[in-house]
Order: sequence, then structure tokens, then C-alpha cells
Amino acid sequence: MAATILIVDDEPNLRKVLAATLKREGYEVEQAADGEQAIERFDEGGIDVVVSDLVMPKVGGFDVLRHVLEKAPDVPVILITAHGTVDSAVQAIKTGAFDYITKPFEQSELRQVIAKAARTRDLTRNNLSGPFEGEKLPSRIVGQSQAIQDIYRIVEKVADTPSTVLITGESGTGKELVAQALHRGSSRRNQPLIKINCAAIPKDLMESELFGYERGAFTGAVTSKPGRFELADGGTLFLDEIGEIPIEMQVKLLRALQESEFERVGGVKTLKVDVRLIAATNRDLHKEIQAGRFREDLFYRLNVVPVSLPALRDRRSDIPLLVEFFREKYNRKLNKRIDAVEPEAMEALQAYAWPGNIRELENLMERSLLFADGPTIRHEDLPENLREIAPVAHAALPAPAFVSVSVPAAAPSHTDASASMKDIVKGAAAALERDLITRALDETGGNVTQAAKKLQISRKSLQNKMKEFGLRDPDERTAG
Ligand SMILES: Nc1ncnc2c1ncn2[C@@H]1O[C@H](COP(=O)(O)OP(=O)(O)OP(=O)(O)O)[C@@H](O)[C@H]1O
Ligand SMILES: [Mg+2]
Repeated sequence: MAATILIVDDEPNLRKVLAATLKREGYEVEQAADGEQAIERFDEGGIDVVVSDLVMPKVGGFDVLRHVLEKAPDVPVILITAHGTVDSAVQAIKTGAFDYITKPFEQSELRQVIAKAARTRDLTRNNLSGPFEGEKLPSRIVGQSQAIQDIYRIVEKVADTPSTVLITGESGTGKELVAQALHRGSSRRNQPLIKINCAAIPKDLMESELFGYERGAFTGAVTSKPGRFELADGGTLFLDEIGEIPIEMQVKLLRALQESEFERVGGVKTLKVDVRLIAATNRDLHKEIQAGRFREDLFYRLNVVPVSLPALRDRRSDIPLLVEFFREKYNRKLNKRIDAVEPEAMEALQAYAWPGNIRELENLMERSLLFADGPTIRHEDLPENLREIAPVAHAALPAPAFVSVSVPAAAPSHTDASASMKDIVKGAAAALERDLITRALDETGGNVTQAAKKLQISRKSLQNKMKEFGLRDPDERTAG
């Protein structure tokens, strides 16, 4: 579906030209002749990107920007500033504008900025996070598992320090959420948190995005522009998907980090900034280093405080909590009254492998709430891929009686009730895991590959688990 762009300008000719250009690019275009009209039109909904002139009589571009930020912070706003007003451009970004363009601008620049905004909007829309929630703060980090508590502790400890943090974890595990928590927990919280997604920026634009450029630095650089380092001055710079940063850029980045200084592209002046750096990646940087794609020195510079986020399947005990959290969130957002997730459905949710982690769970919850026609979410409301694994999981997952039977067996014998709660749970989880594995092996006639598939874990980790639980691997028998 084409993105709908709202163009706001009190200059009818400019508006017309902009509209024509964007329509040619395949966007839906709406127009407003001033800030007031813009806000009115925006509140009717359906706008994906706003492009607004800065200076307009009465209600100006900043007012439009602030309105959008309040109502739907996921909708990117691009401000058009007059040539030479770098201050207001910087102000725009700091206030929360997605980007700005300076008059006079080249059509290609406009097209690029809009395409980037539309792409971002598309991503956030598919993540279905945020719009019209009225909550400016990012959602809190939910979870009580040991794994996530360890994360809370690190975040608390290092938030208000200048140390660089490297957050790793699979896609959708909450890396950005942790970056936001770190920023909010620091004394820089009232300064900007500037994010740059290294994966979304074309290789040859990387340097100018990071460090800015001077007028005439390259064709199309009709004005000068500060980079993300400058915009983050006093605040936090979040380098997302750092694993994607081209190797040629890594030296320059390293120098900027080590010396806190850099030059704009085409500039001679050395600029100094005070920036706290947070980086994130879902790649294994050790592997990237071995493959020669990531510099070891940069890695050590970034990896001062490593934070490694667990995959959701490795902290399944948090799934019910998250399910409840998202049920309430989307009840509010979608104006629904789903008051429970039925046990059978919850079991399927807990048994699933969640390759997309919390993002996948969140999207699934939103969809399920949207389509549920009863007062609860039932097993049959879940998508097919989840229901498919359910028979295995359902058969294998214990009825409550099973847990209560197996807990005493698995719990340590020196039972000090309060202190060993964790161990009891651990023991129960292990017993459960062993049971799931045994059943999967039974059902596949001892075929490890097929059993692993059924359990949605890798063959290797199944073999490890089997070793751990003292279950025999038939492969090893034939091999030995
Ligand atoms: N512990 C959590 N509690 C509540 N919501 C969470 C939690 N972790 C992640 N989320 C939500 O899940 C979604 C994905 O999180 P986030 O964008 O931080 O992941 P990510 O690791 O940056 O993913 P990617 O690698 O795909 O960029 C977001 O909507 C976020 O709010
Ligand atoms: Mg992310």
C-alpha cells in the first residue's frame, strides 16, 4: 500500500510542485495550506508522513511537529527550512523531526528523504508499536525471569555512566528498548537520543550521515548539514545494527569514538562533541571479526559493557507475563475487551520457538485481539503455525498435576522453602524439558533430526540437551 504524505505549505506553487513530484513517485498525496488545516487533516487519520514548511503564519511547522509527536510519534515529520537557518534545522531534529530539507532543495534530495521516512513508517507500522497511544515513553521492559533480571541490574548500574554499551541479541529481543532505558536512566535524559540505523543507510551516505557535510562537498550538497554525532552532542548516540557498518567506515568511526572529534565531509574544521555511545547488533561480531568484516579494535572500543539479550525461547517463563502485558496494551489501543487467554492457547504460546522473539509475540497478540470475536483468545484463534506445533506441545506439556508430581523429584532435597523457590522452578523446567524431548524422540522413533524439528530447536542443541539429561543419541551409537 502506498504511503500517504501530507504536504503543508502556505505557498500554493511550491505545494503543487511537491505534490506532483510525490504523486509521480507513487505516493498518495494530501495538502494543507497552513498549520491549522494540517492538524485538522492529520487528526482525521491515515497520514504516514508529514512534510511541512517551517515558517507559516499563525500555526507554524514546529507546532505541527509537536502535535504529531504527541498524537502519533511514529509518523515521521520532515520540516522544510529556509537556506541558512541551520539553527532551526538542528532544533527541528532535536525536537523530534525525522529530518529536514533546506530550501532550495533538489528533487532527488526530497525523494530520498521521503523514501527513507516512508520506509521507516512502514517498519514501525508493521511493528504496530506506538501510534495514537498517547504514551511518549517507550513501553517498559517486562519480565521476571532470571535472565531478564540480570539485564535490569546491568542497565541500572551502567545507565548513568559515560561507558559505551554494546547490546547484542536476536532480532526482536528488545535491544532498542534497552538503549532507551539506558538513555532515560542517565543524566542525559533531557538531551537528545539520536539513533542511526546502520543497515538502512546506503554505504556511500554513511559518512555524511554520521559526521555531516559542508556545502559543496559533493554534487547535491547545496547546503551544509550536521551529522548524527553533532546532533547527539550532550546526549546519547545509538548506533543500531552496528554489524552492518562498512569496513571502510569503521576506521573513521573508531577515531571519532577514541578522540571524540571528527570533521564533516568536505570540512576542514575539527569538531568536538560530548556523546554517550550505545551500539546494538543481532550479528555475532566475533564471527564478523574472523571473517574480516569487522575491525577488532572497534569491537573492543564498543564492547566496554556488553549486554546480551536472551532469546524469548530461552526465557519462556516470561511468556505469560508478556502475553498479559500485550493483551492489556492492545485492549487499550484497539478498544477491545478481551479478558483472558485460555490455558490451551497459552500453552501453545509457551511452546512455540519465537524466532522473531518479543516483536513476533507482540504482533501476534495484536492480531489475535483484533480478530478474536469472543471474550477470550482461544487456541483456534491462533495462527496455524502455532496451532500446528500445539499437538506435540499440548500432549507433551504437563497438566498441572504433572508439575506437582515432578517438582518434588526435581527439587533439591535440602528444602529451605523461600530460598529454593528458584531451584524448584529450575528443576521443574528441566523435568518438563526432559519430558518434551523424550516424547518427541518417541514420536519420531528416535530420529534426532526430526525430533529437533518438532521441538523447533537445532539438532546440535537437542544433542546437547540429550547429553545433559542422560538420554542416548542413536547417531552416536552407530558412529561409535
Ligand atoms: N521485555 C520487553 N517487554 C515489553 N516489550 C518488549 C520487551 N522487549 C521488547 N519489547 C517490544 O518488542 C518490540 C521489539 O523490541 P526492539 O525493537 O527493542 O527489539 P530489537 O532487539 O531492537 O529488534 P531488531 O533487532 O529487530 O531491531 C518492541 O515493540 C518492544 O517494545
Ligand atoms: Mg532494533
